Amino acid sequence: MVARRGGDAEFDILDVADFDLPLLDEPVPPMMGDYRNEHTQRWADAIASYDRYVLVTPEYNHGPSAALKNALDYLYREWNNKAVGFVGYGTAGGTRAVEQLRLVAGELQLAAVRNQVALSLKDDFADMHALTPQPHQEQAVEAMLDQLITWSSALRAARVAS
Ligand SMILES: Cc1cc2nc3c(=O)[nH]c(=O)nc-3n(C[C@H](O)[C@H](O)[C@H](O)COP(=O)(O)O)c2cc1C
Repeated sequence: MVARRGGDAEFDILDVADFDLPLLDEPVPPMMGDYRNEHTQRWADAIASYDRYVLVTPEYNHGPSAALKNALDYLYREWNNKAVGFVGYGTAGGTRAVEQLRLVAGELQLAAVRNQVALSLKDDFADMHALTPQPHQEQAVEAMLDQLITWSSALRAARVAS
């Protein structure tokens, strides 16, 4: 809701579950840009149509969800020279999962902004389930989105050049 309020940038919600991606099953590395499967092309088309992303992840054993990592691994050029921000959730705000995603983003040439949203299962969810964010989380979202929009705009020249 914060992302949809004001500003020029528009955001959509994509759920990786809607793309029915199996564990990565392409025969050649995504860097080759030679996608053979219909599910890969559908995911690639969706990701290619955006200049910036906000990845939302739980924390499992200090890492991101396997489904999200798999979805990131499927593509390459579609991520390049764009910007990414993070929303993590867990007992420690998903911060350790987001740290892992920052390393992955670097390899995908996806610029990871510093500001992030760290939702606590204890303080920002009711019964560790229903999202009930504390008021300060709205400012955290805005700060992350501000950086995200600035960086993705600055990277436009790099996207055009490539
Ligand atoms: C296998 C597993 C490992 C987990 N590991 C962590 C963890 O390392 N750190 C943490 O903060 N929460 C951990 N949790 C708690 C999850 O972050 C929490 O259950 C969260 O609600 C999962 O999000 P989801 O319901 O969207 O999958 C773990 C949960 C599971 C099932």
